Amino acid sequence: MRTRRRDFLQWMGSACVGQTGVAGAQESHRLDEEARRSGRRFGFAVHPDYAGREPVKTLLRQHAGVITAENAMKWRSIEGILGGRDYTQADAVATLATELKALLRGHTLAWHQSTPRRLTNATTDVFRQEQGAHLHDMVLRYKGRIHTWDVLNEVIDADSGRNDGFRGSVLSTLWGGERYPALFEQARALDPQAKLAYNDYGMEQDDPWCERRRSAVLRMLEGWVKRQAPIDVMGLQAHLDLSRRFSASRLLKFFDELKALGLGIQITELDVRDSTTDGEVQTRDASVAALYREFLDACMSHSSVEMVVMWNVTDADSWINRGFAGTRRADGQPMRPTLFDTQGQPKPAFTAVASSLRNADSNFECPPIRNGSPLCSPKF
Ligand code: G3I
Repeated sequence: MRTRRRDFLQWMGSACVGQTGVAGAQESHRLDEEARRSGRRFGFAVHPDYAGREPVKTLLRQHAGVITAENAMKWRSIEGILGGRDYTQADAVATLATELKALLRGHTLAWHQSTPRRLTNATTDVFRQEQGAHLHDMVLRYKGRIHTWDVLNEVIDADSGRNDGFRGSVLSTLWGGERYPALFEQARALDPQAKLAYNDYGMEQDDPWCERRRSAVLRMLEGWVKRQAPIDVMGLQAHLDLSRRFSASRLLKFFDELKALGLGIQITELDVRDSTTDGEVQTRDASVAALYREFLDACMSHSSVEMVVMWNVTDADSWINRGFAGTRRADGQPMRPTLFDTQGQPKPAFTAVASSLRNADSNFECPPIRNGSPLCSPKF
């Protein structure tokens, strides 16, 4: 795989970094169409204001077959600083999905980082009542429009020192780690047609940290499946990082383990950080593209991978360049983590992703919803 990556880097360097070549590729590749060839879908995380903002609106029209609200459907966004509930932004994303004829992923019903701050010191009873009410309202409001709900987000911390591998957080303390499956049961009862996902990061690459996280997640999922929790999908965020190793065979082994549990796989927040890559923009772009290609080639070779969603559309919108992501480049330059540059022009990463999608194995089969009816395509 390392040799393939080197070859690909050379190819990108010589053939693909010229803007004309890449721009030409954009016209001939529409990413969701490429993904559909193998029965999969492709899309992006969005903000409500993308509906009226160029170049992202046009890029979404061209390439998006699925969208996720980056923040608008999170509990803290719905509640806002003034309390109460305001669904305006979340509704705008649902409307955008309809306009684009795209599937809508719901992100996310329970996450420690989006729990309203006022509940940090709540009693267990109050917290459970409020979390349950929030989930109830969201699932019913968007019933019939959500393809997949991220029911629960990021509860694993393999280095927490806890036997159960759970992150110490408002959720594990006040909701209770042993009661996580109840969130899935409640969601399934309210909207039996939506797929239900557990979503988490740090499992895609080949180092001890990812290894520990994969083991902890698998252990948790095995327990849930044994209890017949209605979970359908593992959402792999895939915030990839060029400073970590990648091994396709290691990733595919993990995919097999998830498949053996009866779970589908969705790539939910894909981007590539080039925090430590030296050199000119062209060299950095070639390295980013090579990792996209290697990662997606592996994903597209596995029959359980249903969809791929990018976290943001252009480098200008990327959360990584918004100052919330922690890591920054030593040279102070913004990172180049998405498929399009700050002007919305396709980068070598675009060509790499388009090629992976185009060459995908077409043995994909839509896995049935656990304890529900199968759903691969949206009903408009
Ligand atoms: O919109 C306000 C703006 O009005 C204000 O001036 C500014 C100053 O603080 O904050 C803006 O809100 C920020 C928002 O992003 C919009 O950019 C929030 O503070 C900030 O906390 C929020 O961060 C989001 C983060 O989740 C926490 O919700 C990121 O955009 C979003 O990309 C990130 O997404 C997460 C996924 O949900 C889960 N997986 C990891 C992923 C990346 O961290």
